[in-house]
Amino acid sequence: MYDVYEIKKDFPELMLNVNGKTNVFLDTAASAQKPKAVLDKMMQFYCTHYSNVHRGSYYLSEQATMDFEQARTQVAAFINAKEKEIVFTRSATESINLVAATWGMQNLHENDEILLSQAEHHANLVPWQVVCNKTGCKLKFFKVNDDGSYNSESFYRELTSKTKLVGITGMSNVLGTVFPIKEITAAAHQVGALCLVDACQSIVHQPTDVKDINCDFLAFSGHKVYGPTGIGVLYGKYEHLEKMPPYQMGGDMVKKVTYEHTDFAEPPARFEAGTPAIAQAVGLGEALCYMQKLGMKNIAAHEKMLMNYALPKLYDIKGFKMIGTAPDKGGVISFDLANIHPQDIAFILDKEGVAIRTGHHCAQPIVNRMGYTSLARASFGLYTTPEDIDAFIKALNKVKDFFKKMEMNK
Ligand code: ALA
Repeated sequence: MYDVYEIKKDFPELMLNVNGKTNVFLDTAASAQKPKAVLDKMMQFYCTHYSNVHRGSYYLSEQATMDFEQARTQVAAFINAKEKEIVFTRSATESINLVAATWGMQNLHENDEILLSQAEHHANLVPWQVVCNKTGCKLKFFKVNDDGSYNSESFYRELTSKTKLVGITGMSNVLGTVFPIKEITAAAHQVGALCLVDACQSIVHQPTDVKDINCDFLAFSGHKVYGPTGIGVLYGKYEHLEKMPPYQMGGDMVKKVTYEHTDFAEPPARFEAGTPAIAQAVGLGEALCYMQKLGMKNIAAHEKMLMNYALPKLYDIKGFKMIGTAPDKGGVISFDLANIHPQDIAFILDKEGVAIRTGHHCAQPIVNRMGYTSLARASFGLYTTPEDIDAFIKALNKVKDFFKKMEMNK
């Protein structure tokens, strides 16, 4: 049974009081809290197995290398990939930049096109703008509907024989829209394009199987999957990785170096220059195990339950408007509340111990497309309880009351 109250106790920070109130953390889409299992694993690793990897022929280095490579195996298993297709990076952002700077610069030319959804966050947009500026390739977008849902007509209209890459988020961090990445990948392949999936949000929302999706690249960050910051993953089909040049140069990504020349290592080492984020990789592996123990399907069902619980109550608040109402959306609620500035909402909520995110959510174009420059956003995690949602709603009513009083005093 999925006992969210027991699960919540695994997260030390959620047990804290904030501003004298119970900590109601509703900003998991920005970065998830960490279970004790992950913190303990990293502590244990630093205390008993830590040293540099792939370099030393002594006990600790062998242990550290085994733990680091074990993390690669755990990541591969989590998304049904092969170990040699898993590149450790610093973040999802770095993973996408890596593909843009290597595969992109190698394969994109004038008259080629990159097709993205309008809902991409900056990490899956800005690197492609830079590649287009450098190569003359054209950047195109397919639309989302006014409710934030996938507009398949627009996608198929914009997808042409000139498209060389489709970049798509698995789930929008602003709208919560879940995109049909398998269908989009198949369509991209039909016109000879590759497909890159930005799985930052979708990886915690649903099981991810890269073989089933058949995508060419997939990126996600450790910190959004209940793991540490400073670690990211790039999955790439080996047939692409082995043709790509290195991204950064340095130690550990070479076969042989002379003063004049370097032979680079095979992937994934080719893309992992320098000392990697060793303990972070170990922590990430543990975070994925933690989610697997709970079961991705159970986590998804919990998220759905929370949405079903929250939405009718939120719609009861006069002036509440959710931005992004696509069917079966994930646990992300961007909203407008009676035109009150999102910053003011967040400020009052914070006094009540409720943490939400405000601003453009690192996705300015889609926030603007929906008619806003800034939005308030509450997002749920595997530890969110119905009581957290009650506290959120109570605090939103306080915001309303505060502004009503202000109006009356004018
Ligand atoms: N992209 C992250 C968010 O959605 C940081 O908040």
